[in-house]
Order: sequence, then structure tokens, then C-alpha cells
Amino acid sequence: MRHLLRISHLHPWDLEYLLERAEHLKRHPYASRQVLKARTALLYFAKPSTRTRLSTETAVVRLGGVPLTVGPDELQLGRGETIADTAKVVGSYAAAAVIRTYRDADVEQFALHSGIPVVNALTDGHHPLQAITDLMTIREYFGELSGRKLAYVGARNNVSTSLGEAAALAGMAMSTAGPGMGDDPFDAVKDADVVYTDVWTSMGDPEARRAERHAILEPFRVTPELMAAAHPHAIFMHCLPAHRGEEVAAEVIDGPASAVFRQAANRLPVAQAVLETVLGGAS
Ligand code: CP
Ligand code: NVA
Repeated sequence: MRHLLRISHLHPWDLEYLLERAEHLKRHPYASRQVLKARTALLYFAKPSTRTRLSTETAVVRLGGVPLTVGPDELQLGRGETIADTAKVVGSYAAAAVIRTYRDADVEQFALHSGIPVVNALTDGHHPLQAITDLMTIREYFGELSGRKLAYVGARNNVSTSLGEAAALAGMAMSTAGPGMGDDPFDAVKDADVVYTDVWTSMGDPEARRAERHAILEPFRVTPELMAAAHPHAIFMHCLPAHRGEEVAAEVIDGPASAVFRQAANRLPVAQAVLETVLGGAS
């Protein structure tokens, strides 16, 4: 595994390895192989981030390195230097790059030219670090993933795409309900072990269409009634940040079935496991 750009590039055994390694690193947080000793990792964030940025910065330190976190206005990229030129230069300083931006093609181009491992920290199309974390969290609740049912309700986006790819690799069943995905959220959550949703407007979605999108998405809010239609042991998941009263009712996300802060905490061991693996520290 040289890069992590999207989940569909992984073999099932890559995913299994990353899950086991993240579980190990959660139990032994300071047991990472020091694959970044005296080295740096570029963390480029063209969109805001709390969890991904801070967990990845912390992971880099735990791997013995120093994170170089920059936004688009801090590089010459913002003044027209090409991605290819930037990537070649970065590759001569840093040992790895973690990139959050808009177009998937831009991250792929960076990976092509930089010569260093590249991790997708969220693009318009994919959010692989989140999906690996989500499976780790589901395993903590239910053990074996194969045969479990995940219902994704709401807006189709980068998170639902990566989650769907990860669920398929792990042998899970996934049902969906939302605009363009299936009409009835109550059908979708029937017998589900996990009910998952995400924001109705993602970073980069046109703000002008927010009201229109939200009117279409209203029937897909995760409410206590919807949770009651899932399996009695069902948990609620959300990658965060969340909007209470929009995609999820406060009683659900702040209630006993909510797994959201465990998910957020699990971002750190997953970031450690992924960076360690792409940097060749895997055994
Ligand atoms: N879930 C997630 O990626 O959160 P951030 O946008 O805060 O990184
Ligand atoms: N789908 C959301 C996820 C944020 C972590 C977005 O792209 O904004």
C-alpha cells in the first residue's frame, strides 16, 4: 500500500491489516514504529478541518516526525505554481503528504509527481480515513463486520461513497435512503446495526442551493422514531461536524446510542496506522 487515495484501491487484507494495526495502536498509543524519525510530513488543507488535521498532526508526532501544516494561501500554488512542480519540490523535503482539497484528480496528480506516499484527507469524492475509522468503531461495538447491516440516510457524498466501498470490502450489507438513493428511510434502517448520516451541505457544495437541498432532505433526518425502527441494539454514527436539528435530532446524537465521539477518538489510531503503513513500517 503506497498511497491511500480511495478505499476501492485497497484489497480486503489491506483493510484488515489497517484495522488490526489501529486497534493495536489504540491500546498501545506510543508503540508506533518511528518511521518519521527526523523527517517531516506535509499536511495540506484547502478546506477547514478539526478532526483530520489534529489527529494527523498528532499521529505524525507519534511516528517520530514533525507535521508541516499549510493552507492554500501559504504555498505558491495559490499564485499559480503547478501541482506537478509543487509535488516534485515537496517530495524532496517531506517523507509523506496528507492532502485535503476539492478535486480527486489534483490529489492523484500530486501522488504521481511527488514520489512520496500520499494520503487523501478528504476530497469532493472520497474520505477514506473516515471510512476506515468507521469500520474500526463498528468492530468495537459488534465484533465481526461481515454480515452486519449499515444504513446510510441523508445526502450522498464523499463520506457515503467511502463508507460504501469500505462496507463492501468488509462483507457488510449497506442500505441507503436519500435523494437519488431510495425513498423510504424506515425501510432502509430495518434490521440495521448502524444508522449513519452526514451533513446535508458538504464543503464546496454551492451555498446558493442550500435551502433547496435542505427542503429535499427533510424527510431523511435521523430522529428517535427512525432509530426505533432499526435493530434494538443499533448505534448512531456521524463523521462530524454535525448540525443538530438538520440531518440529526439532538436526542439521537446526544443520546445513549450515539457512537460519534468514539468515532472521532478513533481517527487518531487510524491516522497512525495509515501513515505507518504507507511509510513502509508495516510488517
Ligand atoms: N470527520 C472529519 O473529517 O472532520 P474534520 O472536517 O473536522 O476533519
Ligand atoms: N461530507 C462532509 C464531511 C466533512 C467531514 C464534507 O465534505 O464537508
